[in-house]
Amino acid sequence: MIPADKIEEVKHAADIVDVVADHVKLRRTGSSFTGLCPFHNEKTPSFNVSPSLGIFKCFGCGEGGDVINFVMQMDGVGFEEAVRTLAERYSVVIPEKTEDQYDPQQHLKDGIYHALRFAGNFFHQNLAESDDAEYAREYLKKRGYPWKTVRKYGLGYASDRFDSLLKNAESAGINMQYLHESGLVKAREDDSGFYDTFRSRLMFPIFNPSGKVIGFGGRTLSSDKKIPKYINSPQTPVYNKSEVLYGIHTAKNEIRKAGEAILVEGYTDVISMHQGGIGNVVSTSGTSLTAGQMRVLKRYGEILLMIFDADVAGVKAAVRGISIALEQGMAVRVLTLPEGEDPDSYVREYGGEGFQEYKKKETVDFLHYLVGLAQKEGRWQDPIERRKSINEILEAIAVMPDGLSRANYVQELSSISRIGDRTLLQELEKIRNRIQKDARRTAERAAMRAGREDQDSRRPTSMNQDLQGGARQQEMERHADASFQGAVGRIPAGAVAKDAVSGEDAVAPTRRHTHPPKRPGYEKELIRLMLTFGDKIIEFIGGYCSENDFEDPELRNCYNDIMTRFQKGDPVSVEVYSRREHPYPELVGEVVLQRHWVSEFGMKKRGVIIHRDANPVNTAQGALKSLKIRYLERTREKFLDKYASASEDEKAEIQKWIRKVTGEWNRHRQEPAETLFPDI
Ligand code: CTP
Ligand code: MN
Repeated sequence: MIPADKIEEVKHAADIVDVVADHVKLRRTGSSFTGLCPFHNEKTPSFNVSPSLGIFKCFGCGEGGDVINFVMQMDGVGFEEAVRTLAERYSVVIPEKTEDQYDPQQHLKDGIYHALRFAGNFFHQNLAESDDAEYAREYLKKRGYPWKTVRKYGLGYASDRFDSLLKNAESAGINMQYLHESGLVKAREDDSGFYDTFRSRLMFPIFNPSGKVIGFGGRTLSSDKKIPKYINSPQTPVYNKSEVLYGIHTAKNEIRKAGEAILVEGYTDVISMHQGGIGNVVSTSGTSLTAGQMRVLKRYGEILLMIFDADVAGVKAAVRGISIALEQGMAVRVLTLPEGEDPDSYVREYGGEGFQEYKKKETVDFLHYLVGLAQKEGRWQDPIERRKSINEILEAIAVMPDGLSRANYVQELSSISRIGDRTLLQELEKIRNRIQKDARRTAERAAMRAGREDQDSRRPTSMNQDLQGGARQQEMERHADASFQGAVGRIPAGAVAKDAVSGEDAVAPTRRHTHPPKRPGYEKELIRLMLTFGDKIIEFIGGYCSENDFEDPELRNCYNDIMTRFQKGDPVSVEVYSRREHPYPELVGEVVLQRHWVSEFGMKKRGVIIHRDANPVNTAQGALKSLKIRYLERTREKFLDKYASASEDEKAEIQKWIRKVTGEWNRHRQEPAETLFPDI
């Protein structure tokens, strides 16, 4: 932990323009600077730096934040490392780590990182210098890896001795416990000590996105079929296989620029592709693709290109992988390599440009890939088998979180299969209903279990179900009450609970990181006003709205945070929030540096006309009106949904509420903002 005052000092000392200018050619425009965004490809500058606020913001890809965020993104390092880098550059002295906040888990991780880093250097040194690595050096040369590449990927060599790393680590003062926990040594069966896990192997260190070694893959150089070709580090506190992608450390900025990640199988595939000038490549390295890996990738790009071998051996796994990626909201494409090639061999043979050409010609989207596969296997020709194939494809489409994409692919499938799209849509609905039901059941079971545990510790009876229902009911009532603030009165319990456990949630798209989230302009506007004009406006806005009015979760949190500070009497300002932790600086950037004023068109449509900041109360009134109208629309929609699936008894009650909300909604649309939200 770096002390907070030191972080402040670094932020003050660092010149954001200076730091950014190392990577971006900046031009002055008024009080800020603009240039071509380093985080995505663009031809016209939408990257903005404000020296007075100390923040940057790209209006093209949404990336933004303070100087520390910039270094984190640019260098791919964590917060602490970014602060230390800047501290060094601007001569701020930061004390070495102190032990005042002892966190045993963090302590263990740090120890493991340290051991891994030592091992990485040791293996690398070995490969560079030791006599018994001569064969390995020859091997790499033959494979076409110059020393520059070896250095870049930190490749190394583990000798054939059982205690080579062990002895060297010991004499370097590495703690054996950490070396053991990192998986680099194993305990002897008779408990008499440890021995090296990796022997006689070419070592590939595996890095996390910020460039720390978290594990190793070791390749044998022997052609003896009885020896496993690769062995890999075991799962450890710092190496979670389901989230690791080999090459991510060097590939992530390239993925961001291309918007696309290329997924291959092996270590050497990644290295050869990078070497061939194709940087946006990562590999799963022996594990089958996981949702966790997709979530990591999605931070950097939305398109996934999967590369498969020509042999059909891994089809089952391939189809499963496609479905996992689709479920995480990736757009999935597939490239099949010619018989007998893997990406490594292909690039070595035809070069990076050859690969690009092949890719352009042969890439298909997942739908065409799956149809092609069925055709190749002769399943498309037989009516019954074809029916099955179509159903499998629909299963894949069904997990896609985005409705528009689903509809598009159904259209496509309809024209390929010449089955009417209505029939296909019906099938798709059936599948989705089943998925949602399954998800709901799983959620309910989990909730039940949680409730039971909860209850076991407090209550003797088994009124579990009621208890839970009751708790949720209260929660919903609180929600409804707070939002309406008495304008409408109490909303019946459960009436707005529709999405609490629906399957829709289970497959809801996660917010894209690489593109600006679509936050409602009036919500941003309210936050901007509170940050810019201080107490009087905060009091005014706070008096008329509650957190539930905010649709965007981050803005909602921000609203809450501002109100809490305000109530405690702490200062609230752009300054304060642009120096806070993630995501505040980014949010502030987005809200304050807004290039376009809240869509005037949208405001006019809602019957609101405002002139920016001539009178902030006036502006706030306009934004509040939009906020309330939208809130009431949302609530009304929820009631209408609820109504559609309600029992006869419930219907009358719900109808009453719909009338009430509709009345409020109309009133908010008709009355002028000044009357709705008088300035007192
Ligand atoms: N793999 C593994 N364990 C094995 C075999 C393979 O973990 N016993 C993983 C490795 O990450 C490897 C990937 O699966 O990189 C692909 O395996 P393979 O195609 O056999 O190896 P290549 O990467 O092609 O290695 P090389 O080019 O050196 O033959
Ligand atoms: Mn290979």
